[in-house]
Amino acid sequence: MKIKNICCLGAGYVGGPTMSVIALKCPEIKVTVVDLNESRIAAWNDEDLDKLPVYEPGLADVIREARGRNLFFSTDVDSAIEAADMIFIAVNTPTKNYGEGKGMAADLKFVELCARQIARIAKNDKIIVEKSTLPVRTAETLQTILDHTGNGVKFEVLSNPEFLAEGTAIDDLLNADRVLIGGNQTESGQKAIQALVDVYAHWLSPKQILTTNVWSSELSKLTANAFLAQRISSINALSALCEVTEADVDEVAAAIGTDSRIGPKFLKSSVGFGGSCFQKDILNLVYLCRYFNLPEVANYWEQIIILNDYQKYRFAKKIITSLFNTVSGKKITFLGWAFKKDTNDTRESAAIYVAEHLIEDGAEIHVYDPKVSEEKIKADMRYLWELKGLTEQKIESKLKQIFVYESSSEALHQAHAIAVLTEWDEFKTYNWNEIYISMYKPAFVFDGRNILDAEKLTSIGFQIKGIGKG
Ligand code: NAI
Repeated sequence: MKIKNICCLGAGYVGGPTMSVIALKCPEIKVTVVDLNESRIAAWNDEDLDKLPVYEPGLADVIREARGRNLFFSTDVDSAIEAADMIFIAVNTPTKNYGEGKGMAADLKFVELCARQIARIAKNDKIIVEKSTLPVRTAETLQTILDHTGNGVKFEVLSNPEFLAEGTAIDDLLNADRVLIGGNQTESGQKAIQALVDVYAHWLSPKQILTTNVWSSELSKLTANAFLAQRISSINALSALCEVTEADVDEVAAAIGTDSRIGPKFLKSSVGFGGSCFQKDILNLVYLCRYFNLPEVANYWEQIIILNDYQKYRFAKKIITSLFNTVSGKKITFLGWAFKKDTNDTRESAAIYVAEHLIEDGAEIHVYDPKVSEEKIKADMRYLWELKGLTEQKIESKLKQIFVYESSSEALHQAHAIAVLTEWDEFKTYNWNEIYISMYKPAFVFDGRNILDAEKLTSIGFQIKGIGKG
């Protein structure tokens, strides 16, 4: 079966970039990305490519070439479903914040709605591709909904989890280590797998395309994220020990990373991992293990999250104790708010939690991030405080402790302390001599990403405290 028309439900950080690259590499396939969010679709269609809703290096070039040729963004979900031979589901699957499994399980309501809508609209056979990260065995649920509420047409469900990392999404998609496609072991399942293999084969070699059964594919995505986050929590756990023993966590990481069995990647100690995926996917894994009555396995993976929360708390606490046990009324400048560099995504960013601790102690948080707006920063804090059940009055009063700037120099002027929360490259190139002059003394820098030249800053006069530095 040759795919001619693809539709993707969900024009977010995954749906947007993945479909743009498929459209770029498969000019004979019409790709339509749809979303219920009108302003998001309008932003994807904006003439001004600086206004794309997702910031990713290289994305604007891909959009420039493919949009309007064979790549389209639309809110007309029904028409796009009807016309497609293959439908990707790339909608959000956040942690449930209500009812059964609250705070742990993945909320599959958006995925379920997609399945019901596809079932209602489809008039011919279609391949449905799970692109969202889903608990193992979700394909079974989707198949049941599709088969029982549809118009008697045949649906083949595939799992094709996405392994891109934000900040390097376009490169990750163009030069994927692998893509993974899981499908049913039936004849029609194998045909569907082959149809999707043929799409990726436009730019990836056969050895980069792995095929498995559906359940292995679904579980592999959760496993990949759990392993990646585990490495971060492992090195972060040791950073605490480094700080009390005069070992240097970067030296320890370099020393173990040269062991080919361990490898050098994902050994950078920091204020803690963020992003929409690691925490949500591990909590989901923990929930699944408990559901299947495997408490030891659940507790093992849960420790990664516990350690990550501890790391964020430890960083905030270090700021407070270093500033003579109080930050009340003090200007603490945050360099960075995004959860990592080269993205405008702030979901679960460590900055949010560090800010919360410091605001609780009375600090004024002054933020500069090259890609994140004031509106987003305040919405992040509001969301957290609403989840915690704070009253509107309390939230409004706490929001007055946050100040957001479009230029770093204003944010840094007359600060008591600087905290680096995101590893944006530009922070390394600032004129630190001038910054020192403009700050209150002692001038503290808390480098939550270990990106600054500590020796140079110390010689200027800063009191610099990195992560895992003895
Ligand atoms: P996102 O929140 O950026 O985008 C999801 C989009 O789906 C939103 O724009 C929302 O309006 C839309 N949507 C929700 N219900 C819809 C419906 N019924 N019809 C049409 N559109 C609908 O989420 P993101 O980051 O793109 O993640 C999507 C999935 O991909 C999640 O399951 C996530 O775990 C997974 N994933 C995310 C990665 C990342 O780096 N962000 C990497 C790999 C996987």
